[in-house]
Amino acid sequence: MDVIVGGGIAGLAIAWRLARSGRPVTVVDPAPCSGASHAAAGMLAPVSEVTYTEEPLLRLGIASLRMWPAFAAELAADAGAASGEPGALVDLREDGTLDVAFSADDLAVLDELAGFMDKLGLRVERLTGRECRRLEPMLSPAVRGGLLAPDDAWVDPRRVTRALRAALDRRGFALIPARVTGLLREAGAVRGVRLAEPYARDLHADRVVLAAGAWSGELADVPVRPVKGQIIRLRSPQPLLTRCVRGMVHGSHVYLVPRGDGELVVGATQEELGFDTRVTAGGVYELLRDAHELVPGVTELELAETIAGLRPGTPDNLPLIGPSGTPGLVLATGHHRGGVLLAPLTAAIVLGEQSELAALCSPERFR
Ligand code: GLY
Repeated sequence: MDVIVGGGIAGLAIAWRLARSGRPVTVVDPAPCSGASHAAAGMLAPVSEVTYTEEPLLRLGIASLRMWPAFAAELAADAGAASGEPGALVDLREDGTLDVAFSADDLAVLDELAGFMDKLGLRVERLTGRECRRLEPMLSPAVRGGLLAPDDAWVDPRRVTRALRAALDRRGFALIPARVTGLLREAGAVRGVRLAEPYARDLHADRVVLAAGAWSGELADVPVRPVKGQIIRLRSPQPLLTRCVRGMVHGSHVYLVPRGDGELVVGATQEELGFDTRVTAGGVYELLRDAHELVPGVTELELAETIAGLRPGTPDNLPLIGPSGTPGLVLATGHHRGGVLLAPLTAAIVLGEQSELAALCSPERFR
């Protein structure tokens, strides 16, 4: 039996793929689907989130983005969703990301980025301010230009984890709502996990997959640290935007992710404060202030939710997926800003597929 420690999007995606392949699997998590996956906006945006030094991450992101439509369609079928458009169950939207600029300096930055993307063979379109507003009429009149990444997409991560649980339930998998206090080690190998009260017992496994996000470092020697992100959810009767919009405001990036039901997710702060998940007045203020610069109408919307999640950051911003170096222990953690995007690829790698990409995120690199 495989034991997955962590019932977020990565752990559940792995469990689902393993269950589909006929392997017995148990997920252990005291509060499944309540961590970073619950806070996340769900951007599948490897192109617009690319940075100059992170081409390996881009390769992983693009590969996983391409896997999302089939992943969503298979998940919908397995979760027993009434037939409809593939991807409807998880609100998969493939309308791209629009990155906007306000000043000549911002435009120069976007232009340079567009050149870099062109060189990498990524599809991007440079747009004037007017063209941006034609696509998104609620954008500020101060927007001077933008860059459209038409292949970027997004999902609703809460729907994804709900669907994964439904699909797993239909396959009769086991979920133990317990905290893991430690790994069972025997002759240099990991043989299972120790469960906290009220279970207070050992759970033996052929293989333990550590998918505990920012908490992974509490169970194994892995270079994962929590990176706090505060996020807000606004609500309106009609969607204010038709695609993801992002921009640089006051030196930091803000993004707005629309849902079909009128929800608009605004994110996210990036803070190195350990395991602090308090939502602060300053965090909410900055998000609203920056979102308002991009789309002035946001202040008319209902403030539906504020939340903070912890991204599992690694020293090189690449995830840790694959054999840990200790027999019996596999890692599926360290996804930092890309946990939702990388979920299908993570599951594929743990199942032994995608060996070329697996090499890019192998935990071996830190040994
Ligand atoms: N991928 C967006 C974030 O982590 O804020």
